[in-house]
Amino acid sequence: MRVSVNMAMSLDGKIATKARGPVKLGSAYDSRRMSEIRALHDAVINGSSTFRAYPYPLHVQGKDLLRERRSRGQSAQPISAVVSSGLLMPRKTPWEQEINTERWVFCGKMASEARQRSLEKSGVRVLRSRAARPQPKEILKAFEAAGAKRVLLEGGGEFNSSFLERGLVDRIHLTVTPLLIGGKDSPTWCEGAGFMTGKFPRFRLAEFHQEGDELYLTYEHL
Ligand SMILES: NC(=O)c1ccc[n+]([C@@H]2O[C@H](COP(=O)([O-])OP(=O)(O)OC[C@H]3O[C@@H](n4cnc5c(N)ncnc54)[C@H](OP(=O)(O)O)[C@@H]3O)[C@@H](O)[C@H]2O)c1
Repeated sequence: MRVSVNMAMSLDGKIATKARGPVKLGSAYDSRRMSEIRALHDAVINGSSTFRAYPYPLHVQGKDLLRERRSRGQSAQPISAVVSSGLLMPRKTPWEQEINTERWVFCGKMASEARQRSLEKSGVRVLRSRAARPQPKEILKAFEAAGAKRVLLEGGGEFNSSFLERGLVDRIHLTVTPLLIGGKDSPTWCEGAGFMTGKFPRFRLAEFHQEGDELYLTYEHL
């Protein structure tokens, strides 16, 4: 199983304001690049806070990319997944109503069964953890059992860090956008508890290119 992260950040390393609402940082080129990256994956996942900001299916746009997926024998769209311990997520969203895409939610052991049944009625697959919060390894195991080989994490920072802290991320795609967001409470793309001095995970710069004022970086885990 290959696990990648794809995120856009401001020059000061932020991905949103402290309000944690939707913020568009990248250009049209960045949106196309996001689709190109998604197209290579079998599943794309968001944490619950990102889902609240952007409750849409994590789709690939572009007939050429969809054609290429078909020719590789992949499903029309990647599985569009959310991780929400309590299933306390907005309902009747564009994501929930996108019945032609496989939609999964990972929830914790305490999540309401009534909410689970109600989501299942909308065609959503609900996977219940034995822990209070779904754990990265069990999330990957569930995808593996469904035949997925490549999984893409699309934030936010708290969700990404749970995989990074366990050394489960192979590849990081980052777009550096020419903006400042600022604010000590504005999230970065890797939050969590932080790494200890001397134990900082290291990555190798595998690819980079410039497009206008944006930089596109791909790092691979050493
Ligand atoms: N610039 C970009 O590329 C980009 C991309 C994505 C998101 N964003 C922005 O990022 C912000 C949200 O980021 P965020 O860091 O606040 O939240 P987040 O990572 O999206 O969501 C975190 C939440 O996910 C749930 N969760 C369930 N299992 C988890 C696990 N194993 N590890 C971690 N979280 C788990 C928890 O909530 P429960 O208790 O509900 O389970 C947790 O509080 C939004 O403003 C969004 O717009 C930006």
